Amino acid sequence: MSEATPARTLVLVKPDGVARGLVGEVISRLEAKGLRLVAAELRTLTRDVAEEHYGEHREKPFFGPLVEFITGGPLLALVVEGPRAVEAFRALAGATDPVKAAPGTIRGDFGLEVQNNIVHGSDSDESAAREIALFFPKLG
Ligand code: TYD
Ligand code: MG
Repeated sequence: MSEATPARTLVLVKPDGVARGLVGEVISRLEAKGLRLVAAELRTLTRDVAEEHYGEHREKPFFGPLVEFITGGPLLALVVEGPRAVEAFRALAGATDPVKAAPGTIRGDFGLEVQNNIVHGSDSDESAAREIALFFPKLG
């Protein structure tokens, strides 16, 4: 039987991860897992793109600081492909709060603060499609 059509997810190495030199670490882990890179771009987000990306959190108290943080320096945007890519990368990333994230996950191994939690991964196939279209419109 053929494998299911590979899914895609948007991964960000956030500005804290880039500044700390964790780009190679994140890419190594997702490649070792068997996920494949489809696109990669180092860029500094505009406020508009950041607010759209995190639109679901617009009313939250952490939204303003989160937008400041995510626009505060270059990040690495990746499109990653593989079977159940969304779920697979979320498992590698670990829980949102790095103190609660299991050791062995990216956040669990490298983070201490909720906002500065090193990576983003789309949370569903629908979010992935929306986020990939926002970051890489040419990928369709
Ligand atoms: P969320 O979508 O809940 O987490 P995840 O990145 O695991 O999907 O939140 C988006 C980002 O917002 C999260 O990665 C870090 C930041 N954040 C805060 O700064 N404070 C908070 O209390 C929460 C819940 C998130
Ligand atoms: Mg989320």
